[in-house]
Amino acid sequence: MEKEPYIGRKIDYERYQGTTSEDLISEILEQKLEEPTTKIKEEELYKETVVQSTQQVVSRGIDSKLEKQVQTYNQVWRPVIESKSYRRLESVYHQISPKGVVYFDVLDREIFITQTEKNFQSLIQNHQIGTVKRWNDEEIEKMFGKGLNPTSLITSYESAQWFAKEIPPLGDLVVLELGTGAGWATVMLYESIRGEHQDLKVKQYSVDMSPHAIAATETLLTYKGIPHIVATNPHELAQIQDWMDNTPEGKGYSGVILVLDDINGVLERFSDKSVEGVYSSHGTAYLSKSEYRNFLNTLSSKLKNNGIFIADSLNPLYTNRLDVGTTLSQMLAPKRMMKSLTKKGITYMYGGKLRNNSKYFPGEDVQILKGFNTPQAYLIIEWCNYLLKKMDFKRLVKTVKSLQVTMRVVDEYRSDVFPSFLLKDIVDEEKLNFQSLSNPPEFPIFMDTQGFRMKKKDV
Ligand SMILES: C[S@@+](CC[C@H](N)C(=O)[O-])C[C@H]1O[C@@H](n2cnc3c(N)ncnc32)[C@H](O)[C@@H]1O
Repeated sequence: MEKEPYIGRKIDYERYQGTTSEDLISEILEQKLEEPTTKIKEEELYKETVVQSTQQVVSRGIDSKLEKQVQTYNQVWRPVIESKSYRRLESVYHQISPKGVVYFDVLDREIFITQTEKNFQSLIQNHQIGTVKRWNDEEIEKMFGKGLNPTSLITSYESAQWFAKEIPPLGDLVVLELGTGAGWATVMLYESIRGEHQDLKVKQYSVDMSPHAIAATETLLTYKGIPHIVATNPHELAQIQDWMDNTPEGKGYSGVILVLDDINGVLERFSDKSVEGVYSSHGTAYLSKSEYRNFLNTLSSKLKNNGIFIADSLNPLYTNRLDVGTTLSQMLAPKRMMKSLTKKGITYMYGGKLRNNSKYFPGEDVQILKGFNTPQAYLIIEWCNYLLKKMDFKRLVKTVKSLQVTMRVVDEYRSDVFPSFLLKDIVDEEKLNFQSLSNPPEFPIFMDTQGFRMKKKDV
């Protein structure tokens, strides 16, 4: 069956072609201010018309950008997605991993890079913004690699599914996602929420301080046909929020709002008790403990009663250095290896220990993991086994390379991670009204996910 993108509504933006905001203001003023009775009325009307015309300009801008996304989807991604080989591979991939785990063909990496570069150039040229030090293009390449490997995606996906089930459906949903990276979790979160709450509009504000991350996430959202608007500064964000709250188009919008901003300040841009849920997959994990303390305090006023917060992170006390022999044997004969390891009662294969470099666990050693006999691990193993059987060596080699990069990332990133299992301590220390959510998904030991529900006293 042909898959329809979310984006694609008809937009009458020709109506606005070549009109500036000043033109619109005077046009509206001419219509409305024919016979002003008093000066006060005139001023009020002027303010009102300025607001309306600003909204129209914002609306026009958003419409033309959404229209452009449809064009890019049709020109760049539709031919890819509708090709026979893509459909065959995607179908096998989704027999191995859950359907909600994004599929992206490793051979389409170049298209991803070209599109992201275009988005990036347009971001920095049109908005005169600089880049950030750590989360640069190299990092985005690493984060992009995560999406070529279902084992890396599955934990973000399971946190997103948990989030979608636990979020209180009090009305149309306002959700924040913090730290988009290349955008894999952004896509899976949006699709999980839409899947669970089909009758509600979803406004997912996905935040990252790196323009590289915003540009990459734009690419993936277009690839998946998910509508998105970009806010590169607080003023633009406020205009978009106003459009959402006060115009029929804005109220009817379901999609992502990509926000270039710092996690430390972004919550302040939302009104108190206006947010149903906040999700972060390996994003807030890079806040320091004192930043996290401030963040959770602010969060407690921004969430609605029963609103939720779910965050996952690496566990800095583990790292992965896969044993090549074992991993190869698993890729050659996944079922047989799983049976034999399970019979021996093995879930994890341990290597030696390393000196810890995490500031949160001074004096404790880091355990090296050499192999996995877990359901998550078998996703990438089964996928490689399929590529091997099909003798699709081009895809196999690139997939294995991306797995190696992801493993290196785990090793490199863990030193400054604030693990999510320590969040309970902050909640207790700050006496915050968060209750732990029950039934978290089961994560492999080198990662963790935590969830909280806000219980307001004043309701
Ligand atoms: C490890 S990546 C995680 C990306 C993605 N969620 C994933 O699971 O693959 C962390 C992302 O968080 C962003 N980030 C880190 N600290 C941030 C902060 N204080 N404010 C905004 N973004 C931040 C980085 O730019 C980066 O894109």
